[in-house]
Amino acid sequence: MSKIIIAIDGPAAAGKGTLARKLAAHYDFAYLDTGSLYRAVALTLILSGKPDPSESEAEDAANNLNPAILTDSELRAEATGKLASRVATMQKVRDALKIFQIDFANNPPEGQQGAVLDGRDIGTVICPDAPCKIYVTATDQVRAKRRWMELSARGDERPFNDILQDLIARDRQDQQRAAAPLKPAKDAYRLDTSDLSPEAVLKKAIEIVDSRIK
Ligand code: DC
Repeated sequence: MSKIIIAIDGPAAAGKGTLARKLAAHYDFAYLDTGSLYRAVALTLILSGKPDPSESEAEDAANNLNPAILTDSELRAEATGKLASRVATMQKVRDALKIFQIDFANNPPEGQQGAVLDGRDIGTVICPDAPCKIYVTATDQVRAKRRWMELSARGDERPFNDILQDLIARDRQDQQRAAAPLKPAKDAYRLDTSDLSPEAVLKKAIEIVDSRIK
């Protein structure tokens, strides 16, 4: 039987990860944070002394990922996210990570009935036939504040304005790249989370998913 796929896309710090994780728990589906794959490629390169990789070096890292890197505390660091956005512009890196993502969606690891994937191109490229697609957004200010709080909690104190400018630059890079640019799928529900609590976002998302899978 084919699996139910929920595709969550949107710009950085819009609340995709929190929502996707909660949706997966609600429906007892598998969850994949696809951004962590691009971050894993970036961190592998940083740790192997290649902070400015060529496309073939990045492709090589993507083809030989060590799963242990996914639990490294530096995965969520700002420098890792920045390089992740850059390697994500490389078609060969995207190709190297694509099959794993499609396979995860269609064959959830613990045999669940469905999967929730969050990223930038899930509804447009990885799972274009997913019945439920949500494009999560929030204003630049709100997203920068969320990222600032996340980084502060990690002990990474940076001026708010630096974070805001980095976020805007990262969105621009993610949206303007030729390979699988960040954009809402035509059939995605656009959910602006700027003025919503995480609970309200989850409630709305469950309504959307229920209306599309029942
Ligand atoms: O969601 P995140 O901040 O962890 O993602 C890091 C970078 O990875 C992001 O700037 C762009 C890239 N990415 C992507 O291109 N496609 C995805 N499906 C997920 C992430």
